[in-house]
Amino acid sequence: MTGATLQAIRYQRGSLEIIDQLLLPHETLYIPISTLALGHDAIKTMKVRGAPAIAIVAALSLAVVLVDPSTIASGRLSTAQGAVVFIEESLEFLKTSRPTAVNLFDAAHKLAKGVREAGAIASAKGQDVIDKYLELAEKMLEDDVKDNMNIGRFGAEFILKVWKGGDDLRVITHCNTGSLATAGYGTALGIIRALAGQNKLTHAYCTETRPYNQGSRLTAYELVYEKIPSTLITDSMASALLAQNPGKIAAIVVGADRVAANGDTANKIGTYQLAITARYHSIPFIVAAPSTSVDLNIASGKEIHIEVRPAVEVTTLRGPVVEVESISKGSNDVVFKTHNGQDVTETIAVAARGIGVWNPSFDVTPAELISAVVTEKGVVLKEDGVQTFDMKTFLTSH
Ligand code: MRU
Repeated sequence: MTGATLQAIRYQRGSLEIIDQLLLPHETLYIPISTLALGHDAIKTMKVRGAPAIAIVAALSLAVVLVDPSTIASGRLSTAQGAVVFIEESLEFLKTSRPTAVNLFDAAHKLAKGVREAGAIASAKGQDVIDKYLELAEKMLEDDVKDNMNIGRFGAEFILKVWKGGDDLRVITHCNTGSLATAGYGTALGIIRALAGQNKLTHAYCTETRPYNQGSRLTAYELVYEKIPSTLITDSMASALLAQNPGKIAAIVVGADRVAANGDTANKIGTYQLAITARYHSIPFIVAAPSTSVDLNIASGKEIHIEVRPAVEVTTLRGPVVEVESISKGSNDVVFKTHNGQDVTETIAVAARGIGVWNPSFDVTPAELISAVVTEKGVVLKEDGVQTFDMKTFLTSH
């Protein structure tokens, strides 16, 4: 492990920068987010992605705007009422960026409620409302890292408790749930980090996670960065991997974009099929999610709005513009040289022109197939003989 974790979001009051994840792993470039439009666009176009990171970038993009001299000069923040209206309207706009991850809606709800309360105090001025907003938004950034470290700790403890396979402990993960998808450390990847940090993990397998390849581009990048022994597989290889390694894979661990009150979980497309194969192979299937990803307003996953994204994400791949520098004869080693220049990526068509495409970004895994939901407050399990989780009782009693 390197010790220093990747920082996808750099914030200090008045300034927000994010790694443009569209360029990873070929280029690590921080881009400034100085307006609401830039924040909205970064989320919608997936320059930043992952449920907690989306919420935090939305919250902080408004934090930056609130201290921008041009916003102050507009006069819209000069009274408490004006500031509340401005903040509420801005949050409504940011909420339209992506629909599935509940963290964005949860953050917007908490921020709006906080500023309404601050603005309702008779003596409140515009600045009091702004100060309240900044305090709440900045705390979200801090809390997310702490929550992830607790998820990592609880998840590692749980896996070590249920694993009966001895010293060779391997896990499979899907999508990207690490530092790049959160304020830092990660959720499912946080569990992997915690296991590796305790020298308990022999190997992590990450899926490619088609069509957007968060696994091969981002999780693989984080695993390599952290020097965690790991192997990339395509999404279609998971069942074969389990079949060929009986008794070697301790768990499949994934993140969540929205967990319903009964534990049904929306996560990156392909999660559901991993849960089915985990059940078939009698492997624990673990969802790692902060309580900000739990939506107690919905009884089951049937109510989750699944984002459908553009066809081009399925029909094309983005890769580095490269030239081959050398190929070692008799081996698989091909050394690529990246062109110097501004745009280091190019789009490559991988589908027959004219084909129809269905591109849902997420699927819903029924609670029945999930062994445990690991939150920052602890591990949620099902009662004996019950097929669903009682997320509400757990979260309100911890
Ligand atoms: O479409 P994305 O890349 O935003 O989807 C991300 C995922 O599905 C993650 O697994 C999930 O948000 C958990 S992030 C800790």
